[in-house]
Amino acid sequence: MKPYNVPFGDLVRQYRAQQAELDAAALRVLHSGWYILGPEVRAFEDEWAKYCGVHHCVSVGNGTEALHLALRVLGLQPGDEVITVANAGGYGAIAAVQAGLKPRFADVDDETHTMSPASLAAAITPRTKAILPVHLYGRPAPIREIMAIAEQHGLPVIEDCAQSHGAMVAGRMTGTFGQLGTFSFYPTKNLGALGDAGAIITDDDALADKLRKLRVYGWDRKYHNAEPGGINTRLDELQAALLGCKLPLLNQWNELRRERARWYHELLRDVPGISLPDITDGHVFHLFVIQVHGGRRDALKQALTEQGIGTDVHYPLPTHLQPAFHDLGYEPGELPVTERLAESVLSLPCYPELTREEVAAVCAAMRSAQA
Ligand SMILES: Cc1ncc(COP(=O)(O)O)c(C=O)c1O
Repeated sequence: MKPYNVPFGDLVRQYRAQQAELDAAALRVLHSGWYILGPEVRAFEDEWAKYCGVHHCVSVGNGTEALHLALRVLGLQPGDEVITVANAGGYGAIAAVQAGLKPRFADVDDETHTMSPASLAAAITPRTKAILPVHLYGRPAPIREIMAIAEQHGLPVIEDCAQSHGAMVAGRMTGTFGQLGTFSFYPTKNLGALGDAGAIITDDDALADKLRKLRVYGWDRKYHNAEPGGINTRLDELQAALLGCKLPLLNQWNELRRERARWYHELLRDVPGISLPDITDGHVFHLFVIQVHGGRRDALKQALTEQGIGTDVHYPLPTHLQPAFHDLGYEPGELPVTERLAESVLSLPCYPELTREEVAAVCAAMRSAQA
């Protein structure tokens, strides 16, 4: 018998807390007879654009397609290079390849785990045509510094905000600094659908117009393929209606995530061999990611599993060393901070419904494992 039972995530808790409203929204769509690109999608796009403080939101099927279309709409040429990071699950690199582009990687900062501006500046070559930073774990990347470098080189920036719904820099939402911001509403995200969902935000009317065509076969009107390179990636009415129910709670949920981060700080402060993420302004703690020192990460993870504490590793193998990206020609050692973090990061349970008792259980288990 394990002493504790704290799941890494539990989506049923969030569903149950809002069950009546979500059920009613789902039934409304089921009875409407309109399931794709209808009033629910338009309403959610308007609300999400307003929440983010931009003119346009173009919803799509998922966060990877959001990245793919954001890269495509820039009109880059096959083989053009995009600089992103290699510690964020590889979604940007997958989208770049899908768009016919070549991913390159900047290293990340040891403290923020996000794109290092110095490494970015050093990685830019004449072949670089776009920059794709990730606001990872809910923590904003140093986007103003990244924008300054991008502007110096005349390069567009796409912000991957799949983990940063509601995260801000100097009072401004992540996703609104670059030409385009992309979101995933995968169920575990800070704003999560009950299926796949994604969106792209922008203030640029022409880009938004083109994205609206690209997501639906390149159509400018029914059965008329105006835009080359169109695909099918649409948010459906059901997911849009469910997201519309959840959006009013996002700020409250983000505050609860920050509160759980503060609890961890309070209870883990003096545990040896680990370091905790700073609770910086604007951080929305999609994940609470600690570093475990002395090569003990896997042993600690195992000890926590044995005590009934769910954890995860985001992400165990950096993108530049993944088999599918072998042809890019990277060798171990080329991104030292990224590679070191891949061996030391450990994500602890962190979601709005997690109770104080559960956080205390995680910390007690950590304490006994590290003693
Ligand atoms: C940083 C990041 N970018 C992109 C994605 C891709 O989103 P999706 O799973 O909706 O395709 C995810 C999540 O899965 C992510 O965490």
